[in-house]
This record gives sequence, C-alpha cells and structure tokens, in this order.
Amino acid sequence: MIVASTPSALKEHLAALRTRSVAVSFVPTMGNLHAGHLALMQQARQSAEVVVASIFVNPMQFAENEDLATYPRTMDADLAALREAGVDMVFTPNVEDIYPGGSALHTAIHVPVLGDSLCGRDRPGHFDGVCTVVCKLFQIVEPDIAVFGEKDLQQLLIIKQMVRDLGLPVEVQHGPTQRAEDGLALSSRNQYLSDAERALAPLLWQTLQDCAQALKTPAISEAERVLTPARDALQRAGFAVDYLELRTLSALDLIHQVTEDCAVFVAARLGRTRLIDNIQILAP
Ligand code: PAF
Repeated sequence: MIVASTPSALKEHLAALRTRSVAVSFVPTMGNLHAGHLALMQQARQSAEVVVASIFVNPMQFAENEDLATYPRTMDADLAALREAGVDMVFTPNVEDIYPGGSALHTAIHVPVLGDSLCGRDRPGHFDGVCTVVCKLFQIVEPDIAVFGEKDLQQLLIIKQMVRDLGLPVEVQHGPTQRAEDGLALSSRNQYLSDAERALAPLLWQTLQDCAQALKTPAISEAERVLTPARDALQRAGFAVDYLELRTLSALDLIHQVTEDCAVFVAARLGRTRLIDNIQILAP
C-alpha cells in the first residue's frame, strides 16, 4: 500500500497507474476507522481496480466550539487497517496542503436548501466545509467513483447535488450504515460516550425503527402524532434532541405523511456527544 502525504506524490503514483486506464474508486475519511469505513473500502474494491482512501481531519467542517482539537487521531492503526483491507493508496495530506493560507480564508462551496436544514441548521458552515474538502479531494484524486456511508445521509444527498451542479466527473455510490449488535450506528464519536451513555445510545435506533413502523401504518395521517411522543420519550430517557423529523430524500422537504421516498432523521446529544442516525422509508 502506498501512503502519499502530498498532492504531488499522490498524483505521481496515480499517473503511473492511469497509463493502464484502470478505474479508481475513492473513500474519503477523517480517520479513526471502524467497521463502517472498512465496509465502504470493500464496496470501493468491488467497483474499481484501484482503491484510494484519504485520512484528513478537515478543520473547515468544525465550528469553533466543536471537537476539532480532540477528534480521535489514530493514524498508525488506520494505516494498518487499510493495508489489511487491501486498499492500494492512502492520501494523508496536512492542513496546508489542502488550505494554503488557512481554511478561514478559503473559497467555500455552499449547497443551498439541502445544506441549510437538519445538521446544516444546527452546525452552520459544517456542510460548506464538507463540500469544499470533498471537491478539493476529488480534484486531487480524480476518482471515477467515490463511496460515502448512508449514516451521514444528509451529507450524501448534499455531495450528490454538488457533483451534479458542478458537473464533477465522479459517480457517487453509497453503502449501508454499519451497526453494533445492539443497533447503535458505528461512528468515531461513539467513543466519547460514558458507559451509562453507551448503554442508552441504542434507544436512538430503536426509536427510528418504531417511528418508521408507525409511519407506514395507513391509519396514521399525521407524522407529528408519531414524532412528538417519540421526541418526548427520548428527552425523558436523557437525550437532548436536536431534531427528529420526517423529510423527503429528493429535497429534504419536511413532510407530514409518507407520500414519497423519505427518511426519519435524528440528531440527539448524550452528554457532550452528538449522535446522528436515520431510517429510510420508501413510498407505498
Ligand atoms: O464523513 C466524513 O468522514 C467527512 O465528512 C468527509 C466526507 C471525509 C469529509 O471530511
């Protein structure tokens, strides 16, 4: 496995491979890899001869009050896991490589509407940071395919729109959310949870499943009849709920009935840890 820490080193290695006109599949990450990331690497492998991953904790997607400084950085273990997963190349740039002059002064990409609701509302600027870094990474790696996880469903929809709007020559693929045995969606931030919080956390997925089941029931005419009590129950159990909402997959419009393909999206905090998850519901 080749580890390239600068854009020029990565481009040089990739140029040598491209002479054989092989397809390149790319999985961008912020490191601290878990089974969810490794499943995306496997998916990338099924679609292309060359798999490239990146590890870059992107300062532009963190607000000042967020966990940039403490975000778990586990480079040696990550590289070992990627080698084991059969990844061909890993790109590990530093901040200056991606944002010469600093991220604060850098041009930002904003995807309107999709980027302004849910996590975009609670974390202003977050998706601008995600889109900007993903676009920059695409320009450096020039992948044919890029793979993202459905756990970050809003991020996935936003990246798809950015790719469409900017005409980026990349096929965006997505892989299903990987879960612990008790249902908690795998996330690097789960390790911030105390033992008591970790024991409570699977209630989020349980709640999403219950909501989806109820919303599929024809007798339920109003989503709020399901979502309001579910929100209250999460609050009573100890979560601070940022949102629990039914929104369309096409435009993230808030809807009150399952009239088209949609998802229940949740973000809730347990102590200092903000967890997100979602469940998709297909139109009847
Ligand atoms: O999902 C993530 O880990 C990040 O948002 C991404 C896509 C790697 C951009 O920094």
